[in-house]
Amino acid sequence: MRKDAKARVAQLREQLEQANHRYYVLDAPSLSDAEYDRLFAELQALEAAHPDLLTPESPTQRVGGSPAKEFTAVTHLQPMQSLRKCNDESELEDFDRRVRETLLREAIAYVAEPKLDGLAVSLVYEHGRLVRGATRGDGATGEDITANLRTLKQIPLRLQGEVPPLLEVRGEVYLPLAGFRRMVDDATARGDKPPVNPRNAAAGSLRQLDPTITARRSLAFYAYGVGAYDGWARPPLHSQVLQSLREWSFPVSDLVEVVQGVSGCLKYFEAIGARRAQLPFDIDGVVFKLDDLAGRDELGSVSREPRWACAYKFAAEEASTLVEKIEFQVSRTGALNPVARLKPVFVGGANVSNATLHNLDELARKDVRVGDTVIVRRAGDVIPEVVGVVAELRPEGTRAVDWTVDCPTCPICGAKAEREEGEVNAHCTNGLSCPAQLLGALAHFVARRAMDIEGLGEKLLMQLIERELVRSPADIYRLEMQQLAELERMGEKSAANIVAAIEASKNTSLERFLYALGVPDVGEATARELARHFRTLEALLEAAVADAPTAHAEKDKERCPRLREVPDIGPVVAAHVAHFFTEQQNLEVIAALRAAGVAWPELSHAPRDGVLAGKSFVITGTLAGLSREQAAALIEQHGGRVVGSVSAKTDFLLAGEAAGSKLAKAEKLGVTVIGLDQLHALIGR
Ligand code: IVH
Repeated sequence: MRKDAKARVAQLREQLEQANHRYYVLDAPSLSDAEYDRLFAELQALEAAHPDLLTPESPTQRVGGSPAKEFTAVTHLQPMQSLRKCNDESELEDFDRRVRETLLREAIAYVAEPKLDGLAVSLVYEHGRLVRGATRGDGATGEDITANLRTLKQIPLRLQGEVPPLLEVRGEVYLPLAGFRRMVDDATARGDKPPVNPRNAAAGSLRQLDPTITARRSLAFYAYGVGAYDGWARPPLHSQVLQSLREWSFPVSDLVEVVQGVSGCLKYFEAIGARRAQLPFDIDGVVFKLDDLAGRDELGSVSREPRWACAYKFAAEEASTLVEKIEFQVSRTGALNPVARLKPVFVGGANVSNATLHNLDELARKDVRVGDTVIVRRAGDVIPEVVGVVAELRPEGTRAVDWTVDCPTCPICGAKAEREEGEVNAHCTNGLSCPAQLLGALAHFVARRAMDIEGLGEKLLMQLIERELVRSPADIYRLEMQQLAELERMGEKSAANIVAAIEASKNTSLERFLYALGVPDVGEATARELARHFRTLEALLEAAVADAPTAHAEKDKERCPRLREVPDIGPVVAAHVAHFFTEQQNLEVIAALRAAGVAWPELSHAPRDGVLAGKSFVITGTLAGLSREQAAALIEQHGGRVVGSVSAKTDFLLAGEAAGSKLAKAEKLGVTVIGLDQLHALIGR
C-alpha cells in the first residue's frame, strides 16, 4: 500500500513539475487547468495520508509555513558583482578596446542579454534541490528569502537532468507589466498608494515576511548566470552555460543572442529598443558579456565590477527642466486641463516642451509653479507628464497656481470658467458654443466607435466650424454635398463619400448613440449599461429628470437613486448623466438628431424566465469563434445580464484566451469562472 503510494507520489510530482515547467518556462502548456488541478488534489491527498512522503520540493509545498519575523542574513558563496555602465557609443568602444587589448584578440564575441528591471537573486541548489534563495544585499551578504522565492513557479524546486552537487544560480526576479497593472488597480481600488514602477512593486512583493503575499503577485524569474559550483565540468562559453541552465529547467530569456564586436552590440541594442514597447515586461537596457569564460578570468574585476561585462542603458525616461508657463487647455467636455510649458528638454528619445499636469487636484498636490525646476517623464508614446518639483531649486517669489486668477475665463472662447464641488478641474461654461468644445465633441461624435462617419477628420471639422456650417453634431446631418465639395482639399468624389457615410450613420444603436453624445464620464461600457438598463431613450430621460434634483446631494446614498440602479454606475457618473440629460442645449441637439433621422432598433425586454434569469455575467478575453457582443446576446437571450466589471455580486466570469485583470479579480473574489463550453452547457446547447 505504502509502496504503491510512494510510486504514485513520485509519478504525480514528475507530471506536475513538467506541467509547471511547460506552462511557466516554455510557455507551451501540456495539461488543461482542470487536469492539473485534479493531479494536484490527488497528490495533496496522498501526502496528507502519508506525511512521511512529504518533501519540501513537492509542487504542493511552494506556499507553506507561517510568516517570518525577520529575514536572516546569508553570505553568498561567491560575491554578487554589479555592472559597469556604458552611457554612449564611445564608452562602449572603450570597453571593447580594453577587452581586445587585454586578451590580445582582434574581434570579440559577446552574449547580449536584455537587462530586466527587477532584483538580482542567488539560488543555491544542492544535488539538484533548491536549498536557499537570497537577495543581492551588499553583494557579499544578502537576505534569506527562500520561502518567498519558492512561491515563484518559474523557479525550479528540483532540477532536471544531470546536475552538479553544488550550483549557485544567478538571475533576476521581475514583475511582468500585466501583474504590475493589476497591483496598481488593486491598490487604487483599496485607496492605497499604488507602486510607482514594476521594479519597486517586485521588490516590495519579494521582501514580504509572509510568503503567501508574494505568492499572490505574479512575479517571474529569469536566469542569467552561475556563481559558485562544485563537481561540474563548466563549458568554455557563457552561451553554453545558458543552454545548460535551460536544460536544468531554468527560464532563460529567448532574447539572448551572441553578437560580434561593437557593431554587433549596437545592432542588437537597436533591435531590442524597437521591440521594447511590445515586450510584456520592462527592460532598462542591454547587458553585454564576454562569451569566452577563460577570457573572463583573465580580465578580472575592478571595484566589484567585472571588466568582461557592461550595461548599456536606454536613454533616461526622466529629465529635469524649467517650467516657463502654466496654461490651460480646453478638453472635449470643456474641462480646463493644466499644462506645463517647459524649456525644451531631451527625454525618452524626444524633445519635450509640453507636459501634462493632469488636473487641478494633481497640480495642487505637486504644487508646480512657474519658475520651478521639475522632473519630466516621457515613456514610449505616452503623453509626457510632470512627475514632481525639485524643491531645493525653487526660486524666490513664486506663487501657487490659482485657477480663479490664472484661468478665470476659457482661453479659447472667453466664457466664464467654473469649478463645481467635487470636480478635479474647472470648466468652460459655454458648452458647444465654445469652438474648442465643439471640435472635441464633433470629433468624438463621428469616431469609429461612436457614429462611425468615415472621412470626417479633424481638419475638415475645423473648416466646417470656421465657416459656421456646423454648430452642433446635429448640423452634420444638414450638410449638403456642395458645401463639402467647396472645402479645402476636397472634391466631388470625397464629398459624395462623406455624404454617403453620414447617411449610413443614421442607422445606429442606442448604446452607440449614447456614447457618441459625449456625456462626461460615459465611455462605451457605461453607454452599453445605460442602453441595456433603460432600453429606450425616453426611459433614460425620464430617470434623468427624476434624479437631477438630487445630483448634488450631500450623501452619496441619496444621489440619483434611479440612475444608480444601472449596474456599475456610481454617484459621480450618475450625477453627470442626470445633469447632461436635463440641460436644454443637449436636449435640443438630441431632438434635432432624431428629427434628422438618427434611429436605432427597439431593444426588446430580456426574458425574465430564461435559465440564466437573475444571473449576472462578466465577459473577458477572446472567445473562440464568438465575439463578445454575440456572447452577450446569447446570455441575454436566456435571461442573464451582462455587466462591465467584476464584483462580489457577479455570478459568473466568462473567460476566453488571454484573460487578464478581470480573471485575477474574479479568482480573488471567488466568482465562478466558466468557459464557452460551460456556458453552452448551462443553457443546454
Ligand atoms: S549580470 C557581474 N545580467 O543588473 C554580472 N545582470 O548592475 C552581474 N541585471 O544587480 C550581473 N539583467 O539585477 C546581469 N542579464 C543580466 C541582467 C542583470 C538585469 C541586473 C542585476 C544586477 C544589475 C547589475
